[in-house]
Amino acid sequence: MKKTVYSAIQPSGELTIGNYLGALKNFKELQDEYRCLFAVADMHAITVRQDPQLLYERSLKLIAVYLACGIDPKKSIVFINSHVSEHTELAWILNTYAYIGQLKRMHQYKSKIAGNEENANAGLFLYPVLMASDILLYDTNLVPVGEDQKQHVEITRDLAERFNSYYGDTLIVPDPLIKEDGARIKSLQDPSIKMSKSDSNEKAYLLLLEDEKSLRNKINKSVTDSVGEINYSDDQPGVKNLLDIYKAFSGENMDKILSELEGKGYGELKKKVFEVTNETLSPIREDVARYMDNTEYLLEVAKDGAIKAREIANETLKRVYEKVGFVWR
Ligand code: TYM
Repeated sequence: MKKTVYSAIQPSGELTIGNYLGALKNFKELQDEYRCLFAVADMHAITVRQDPQLLYERSLKLIAVYLACGIDPKKSIVFINSHVSEHTELAWILNTYAYIGQLKRMHQYKSKIAGNEENANAGLFLYPVLMASDILLYDTNLVPVGEDQKQHVEITRDLAERFNSYYGDTLIVPDPLIKEDGARIKSLQDPSIKMSKSDSNEKAYLLLLEDEKSLRNKINKSVTDSVGEINYSDDQPGVKNLLDIYKAFSGENMDKILSELEGKGYGELKKKVFEVTNETLSPIREDVARYMDNTEYLLEVAKDGAIKAREIANETLKRVYEKVGFVWR
């Protein structure tokens, strides 16, 4: 029996190259070895108010992105979270095992809620438990994500272990799969923070579907420093981030990259980053546009995926119901 991989992306904004390099890029190669599920985390996305029409479009577009990034719906299960209601059913049960203290220590809680508890919605607070349910529902062994999601996988492990300690082995305890390359892509304007689709400065991120001209402009305007030398060093975070992007897109090793760039200026580094970024993204851009001309097909993939996902989810939920003492439907 193959081991299981689960990952998801929120359709809450346009995807960035951070989403691609930290997560998406790694999905394709897992398909042959593992039973893979890749989801559109629409239920997570509504913890921040969304424009309904945009949410709808972005959910379908994310299916198109999965396909354009090489995910084959014959090999992997591609689906939309809200199509499988078992996610919220398990989440409710796990909420009763999650400690408020631990939820308050989540980075997301600290950055989005702390100090504003009166007006923050409760979904935002409980979000890590929904994510844990996503993962545990499929007996997941591995969760390929970027570094920023590591804490959420840790709370997932804690919840599974706590549940198992009450009831005996019921839930599989998953491991995060965080690649060395591309797991922590930083803002192009402030390399001390992660590149994020919700950044208010659009020069801070490169979108997965960004056009060529804009890619070039944003890379050219990315912050560097006054050292004037290309080194891979924490003292030069802007240059380091560009080198990380270059390495993650090109797959070359850092020594080779540095020796190629020896004695060159930042202009040359930016030119190379642009070239390798555009080379990878332009076929994805074209494929997404092609898939978006046939949204019927995308819906078909999602619905078919949900049927398959549900079969697995039902088994796990039944096991959990029996342990808790619920009467199975
Ligand atoms: P989301 O939608 O914020 O991000 C999707 C994936 O992209 C990665 N990522 C990055 N990687 C490297 N550098 C960056 N700057 C960067 N920004 C984003 C994220 O680590 C993630 O892998 N809660 C999740 C969605 C989710 C999920 C799940 C993930 C819901 N249920 C179950 C895994 C398993 C999220 O908000 O990701």
